[in-house]
Amino acid sequence: MDITSIRKKAIDAVASSSDLQGLEIVYKSFLGKSGELNILLKTLGSLPADERREAGQSLNLLKKEIEVICSKKQIELVNSDAENKLQNERIDVTLPGVKKEKGRLHPVTQTIHSISDFFGSLGFEVADGPEVETDYYNFEALNVPADHPAKDMHDTFYLGNGSLLRTHTSPVQIRTMEQQEPPLRIICPGRVYRKDSDLTHTPMFHQIEGLVLEEGASFAQLKGLLNDFLTDFFGQEVELRFRPSYFPFTEPSAEVDIRWKKGWLEILGCGMVHPNVLEMAGIDTKKYSGFAFGLGAERMAMLKYDIPDLRAFFENDHRFLKQF
Ligand code: PHE
Repeated sequence: MDITSIRKKAIDAVASSSDLQGLEIVYKSFLGKSGELNILLKTLGSLPADERREAGQSLNLLKKEIEVICSKKQIELVNSDAENKLQNERIDVTLPGVKKEKGRLHPVTQTIHSISDFFGSLGFEVADGPEVETDYYNFEALNVPADHPAKDMHDTFYLGNGSLLRTHTSPVQIRTMEQQEPPLRIICPGRVYRKDSDLTHTPMFHQIEGLVLEEGASFAQLKGLLNDFLTDFFGQEVELRFRPSYFPFTEPSAEVDIRWKKGWLEILGCGMVHPNVLEMAGIDTKKYSGFAFGLGAERMAMLKYDIPDLRAFFENDHRFLKQF
């Protein structure tokens, strides 16, 4: 029995294994159940007793030795495997990442939110109404009878069958008064439509209507409220001018201008709700009085952010919108 040559064969075979599967095969071919060493162990019986002991001992030693070199090789292979993986699957942390574009609220939406927040803090609730309105809510209930010339001021989009695109958010006043008992404090932001298109007008824009209906509501309160609101909105004291004006649904009526770059700029319409309007909505005019105002959201955003062209709000140019 040539233990020396088996040993050499085993050492060579282990050394030349290049992966874990190969090593496993080598291991089994020497130390497995029907591996070379076991086969040899079985032949021991045929040897004379004195040789048998010696041969048995050397076989067992060789068995242990092969086991040791196999497990050393195993560790080596596992390590180099990990090393290979590290090399091949390396991540280049200097590569630029995939940027996730974040959306943001449109400046007009932001303006509406900030205005609603201000009035919300004073107990106003946000009310909502349909954009497709009836002639009744858009005009008649607001004290604008069928043949009233004020209708012409509005450049209405008529949809046929008596409906129209609301020309202002004032119809929400009526709908709310019909549904809720006073006292009322509401703010109604929403889209409105007029046949109008030039540098400072778009056929669709956003208005914010405010209505206060309670005992003793007065023009003085309206003035104070608008003053506080505009100071808050622009973040500084603003100079206001209340100019007498006309709206069919308020009496007296006023337009409010603010001091702007050496001139005056009109920013909203307001007034005491006309008794006819209150009566049509079933409000007890002996007990309650109300005031209302309406302002354009785009106009407010233009002033706040100093945007020269109204159309910028509707072009959806990301370079413009990203600034807000
Ligand atoms: N609804 C009016 C408009 O669109 C604005 C307004 C609202 C005026 C409330 C007075 C009171 O021009």
